[in-house]
Amino acid sequence: MTDLLESPTHALLAADPDWWRQAAVYQIYPRSFADSDGDGIGDLRGITEKVPYLSSLGIDAVWLSPFYPSALADGGYDVDDYRDVDPKLGTLADFDEMVEALHGAGIRLIVDIVPNHTSDRHEWFREALASPKGSPARARYIFRDGKGENGELPPSDWVSTFGGPAWEPVGDGQWYMHYFAKEQPDLDWTNQEVRDDFLKTLRFWSDRGADGFRVDVAHGCAKDLPEELPSQAELDALERTSGTHPLWDRDEVHEIYAEWRNVFNEYDPPRVGVAEAWVDPERRSRYASAEGLGQAFNFDLLEADFEPQQFREIIAFNLAEAAGAGSSTTWVFSNHDVVRHATRYALPPRGEDTKKAGNAWLLSGGTDPVADVEGGLRRARAATLVMLALPGSAYVYQGEELGLPEVADIPDEARQDPTFFRSPGVDKGRDGCRVPMPWTTSGDSYGFGPAGAHLPQPAVYGELSVEAQEGVAGSTLEFYRTALRLRHELQTDETLDWIESDPHVLHFRRPGGWHVVTNFGTEPVALPAGELLHSSGPVEGGALPGETTVWLRSAE
Ligand code: NOJ
Ligand code: MG
Repeated sequence: MTDLLESPTHALLAADPDWWRQAAVYQIYPRSFADSDGDGIGDLRGITEKVPYLSSLGIDAVWLSPFYPSALADGGYDVDDYRDVDPKLGTLADFDEMVEALHGAGIRLIVDIVPNHTSDRHEWFREALASPKGSPARARYIFRDGKGENGELPPSDWVSTFGGPAWEPVGDGQWYMHYFAKEQPDLDWTNQEVRDDFLKTLRFWSDRGADGFRVDVAHGCAKDLPEELPSQAELDALERTSGTHPLWDRDEVHEIYAEWRNVFNEYDPPRVGVAEAWVDPERRSRYASAEGLGQAFNFDLLEADFEPQQFREIIAFNLAEAAGAGSSTTWVFSNHDVVRHATRYALPPRGEDTKKAGNAWLLSGGTDPVADVEGGLRRARAATLVMLALPGSAYVYQGEELGLPEVADIPDEARQDPTFFRSPGVDKGRDGCRVPMPWTTSGDSYGFGPAGAHLPQPAVYGELSVEAQEGVAGSTLEFYRTALRLRHELQTDETLDWIESDPHVLHFRRPGGWHVVTNFGTEPVALPAGELLHSSGPVEGGALPGETTVWLRSAE
């Protein structure tokens, strides 16, 4: 096992077992971050070259979306081999170099692990296809006989999360199940070999310096499929809060993570896990327990409107839940799966279904409704300054520090997301938040790489590039940098006190007299007393303008 602390370059990383509790984590979607070799795809060397930039942001850790060998049928969440690097993205040696550079800059690394499904090119799946029905090779996945005389009909009418059927025939009367794209066959987690192999993978990356794991679809691995499968309508009618739904959030999924925890604890400091678990908020803390993964994503603020009461309830609820589990919560407004928050906040309030509302706008090519770009960014910055002041860890998605908008008008022929192809076309998919990063004001791909970008970048990327914003007072980039630096100085324990205020205002205090005040309304309100440390927009003359957050220091 590699002891990172033996190396002097890692002196910045103290053996603090709690480093993750209030970490600011920057998500890198590797193929869209920086392309070092000119193949149009971002790569690990690209990341290594940008470590000074990451360091200048003041983040504590990077979460790296999948970089494993993959046909990219689902942006890398279709993994061919869990213990290697995609040759398009680099080599294991490049990975080691990247870890060395990150750790040398005091930045930890969380890698993405995808346990629910492999890709259809994984050696296990190839073996399953080459092996007969009932064979041990098929037992690693979820194969079922089809219905009809010769198994020509799917075992059930289930619909996959990305649209289209959730079963795919293999030509001998059997079908395999896939929650997502057909290139992502689901594993059977009752299979001991599957379990053991993932423990090996966790050790493999931990030994190479990974500090933690983001666990993809953590709530989906355990399944219990009865002989007679329920219909999709019957499944939809089942409640998901009892731990007994045949597919989602089953109680026994935690047995898997208890085993993972034992592996995490073999390391010093213990490796950490953060569950991507879209479950009932009341059941989230099970994933976050110290006997399990340790932390779980909470997407509640991401799904909320820009509205103080919703923010307050969500914050209070999640802090209490996490404390109850002995964990700390996570906050996030943007990631590689959702419409970027500068754009979400540029659209009318979303009501019940964030995804549908964002998709309706994407389907119009970004013209209906007309996005209020300036207002969207103003609200996004105000919301971000709340997030970065909250106890718990905060996740920042590459490009949000530039105020990047969602790209809505990607031509159909350039789209890559399987949700677009499988729906088909009814869902525009997630390409608009995965457009390669702009580093420079001009050039073919705005400095992403020497040979263009794999998704078209809009002209506004030049003005929003790192080069255009670097050192510019009031730019979104400098706004993030200041916030992240101050967060480091100001964060102490994980408590927060509410201060009652105007109904449009959210006001809380952290220890050390750190006051966080947001005016969610559009009219100015009186600025509370205190030294102004930071603000999401211009603040003058003793008033707090609408849609603005300030950080103040005050003795009270
Ligand atoms: C969640 C990931 O964030 C998403 O990008 C992916 O498509 C699905 N899981 C399936 O792996
Ligand atoms: Mg490349």
